[in-house]
Amino acid sequence: MSFTVEVDVPVPMRDGVALATNVWLPDGPGPFPALLVRTPYGKDNAGLYGNPKLPDVFALVEAGYAVVAQDVRGTSRSPGTFVPHTHEGPDTVDTLGWLAAQPWCDGAVGMWGGSYLGFSQWQAAVHDVPALRAIAPVMTSADPYAAPWRSPGGALSQDAVLTWGTLSALRNLRRGLDDGRGDPADAGALLAGLAEPPSLHEPLPIAGRAAVTRSLPWLGQVLDHPERDAFWREIAAIDHVERITVPALHIGGWYDVFIGETVRSYTTLRHRGGNAAARDGQRLIIGPWSHPDGTDLGTYPDRSFGLAGSIKTAGITEEHLRFFDRWVRGRPGLPDDTHRVRLFVMGADEWRDEPDWPLPDTRYTAFFLDGGGRAGTAGGDGVLTRDTPAEDATDTFHYDPHDPVPSLGGTVLAAAPGTYPGPADQAAIETRADVLCFTTPVLQRPVEVTGHLTLVLHIRSSTQDTDFTGKLVDVHPDGRAILLCEGIQRVRYRESLTEPALLAPGTDAELTLDLGVTANVFRPGHRIRLEVSSSNFPRYDRNTNTGATIAADDADAVVVAVNHVRHGPAHPSRLILPVIERPTSEEDRA
Ligand code: BEZ
Repeated sequence: MSFTVEVDVPVPMRDGVALATNVWLPDGPGPFPALLVRTPYGKDNAGLYGNPKLPDVFALVEAGYAVVAQDVRGTSRSPGTFVPHTHEGPDTVDTLGWLAAQPWCDGAVGMWGGSYLGFSQWQAAVHDVPALRAIAPVMTSADPYAAPWRSPGGALSQDAVLTWGTLSALRNLRRGLDDGRGDPADAGALLAGLAEPPSLHEPLPIAGRAAVTRSLPWLGQVLDHPERDAFWREIAAIDHVERITVPALHIGGWYDVFIGETVRSYTTLRHRGGNAAARDGQRLIIGPWSHPDGTDLGTYPDRSFGLAGSIKTAGITEEHLRFFDRWVRGRPGLPDDTHRVRLFVMGADEWRDEPDWPLPDTRYTAFFLDGGGRAGTAGGDGVLTRDTPAEDATDTFHYDPHDPVPSLGGTVLAAAPGTYPGPADQAAIETRADVLCFTTPVLQRPVEVTGHLTLVLHIRSSTQDTDFTGKLVDVHPDGRAILLCEGIQRVRYRESLTEPALLAPGTDAELTLDLGVTANVFRPGHRIRLEVSSSNFPRYDRNTNTGATIAADDADAVVVAVNHVRHGPAHPSRLILPVIERPTSEEDRA
């Protein structure tokens, strides 16, 4: 293969700032279709080129695309100040305009990239830029409130905010120090937080992390905007989905902090995209992966999904090429319109092609919480059953913000020492009295759960505000309790994310928790378990139970909540599972 590469081409933005951009051109006369990636992590960084979650740049060039990689404003070799999200819309639009006008570009552009590299794609897609023909957002979100910064139930995604925020603050600080700005002592504080996650997460108030907010003031704004107000709506492409007229290739991981939004972007565009191409051109691929680099082999300490679970089997580059060939180059045919969705189904540990999401044959099935009111710990009497319970009962536990339930695996970015992001065994927390466990009897037949999970809880609390959490767990015959997916609902946001309403202590309320998405076959001999509690820390911030501004509450302010989960005929608390029943595949697996 031969190509030319021009490094640090200055691409002018509307305000005169020129962003540093590399241009890779295939050999040949051109003009070429172009594929743009915009990154805050360094366009010259090897991570962009050897990342298994992203397409291989050399393969894209070899396939005849010009590949264009740009440092976003205020990062690496681009001037200006990095303020997350703020400039990505206009800067991407300006870059697309510049690109389409280059003599070597044939006027058709696609965008690619994961995580932060996806934010720019969504923010560009809501603008009507004729050159933009398709986007390929990997492990990212079109609604930054819902992921990664806060969550659909309103809790702060503390691990994502502080881990990513500290790394970004360090990069900002280094640029500032090079220019004679900033306090060198902050570097030590930031590095200490990264080296010792408990020291990063535990101190209260959360808003007291001056070293982070000094170097990345935007982070303070995240804490200052707990509601989904104009600050968030401004950057939420999902609120303007009718304006999006480009198809998207969405790629996600079941254990990624963005997974709920990856799927919601797909479904929202499928139904409400601005034209037929946007509605019908969606493609969704999800594997058993989590977010950080190196967690995409499908092999974790407590659970291995086998060789098929490795991202290397998913053909990420080929999927991108097929998608861009169709929508950027305009070649008809592939990818296949009858199977827009490709999922790694855990439990079966195999890839499956599906026509759409939700799977058209999904049966949303209520599994009721039942038992005599002693569901605390895995050894308690909590039962999960398809039968309507006969008796009312209440489970009561104390939620102490000074002793929250530690996050074990799941959709974290940086795990506590000795743990990892992904499908971790929950046994160590299922010994806690504040972790209610509701479990089915041992299954005689396989039960497949593929889709979006909802948990309805009838609750009461001694406080004006608290949280309720839920986790779906696959209990293996050897006792491992493997996490599948998780969620949280902040009580003050039970009706609305924009108009919080505190609870009168001691009164009943019904909560609906979004527990995210999964695809798992619970095999014969396994049990389905639901864990309910009031914290999952530091995946989510701790509710201080005061009803005040949580990020500002200090350690002395926190209150212990006495929380109740009611169940039975009068209070039908229930987990609604997307059950897939396909007699032939069931028989095969039984
Ligand atoms: C990322 O680019 O990997 C990222 C961005 C925001 C939050 C978490 C991760």
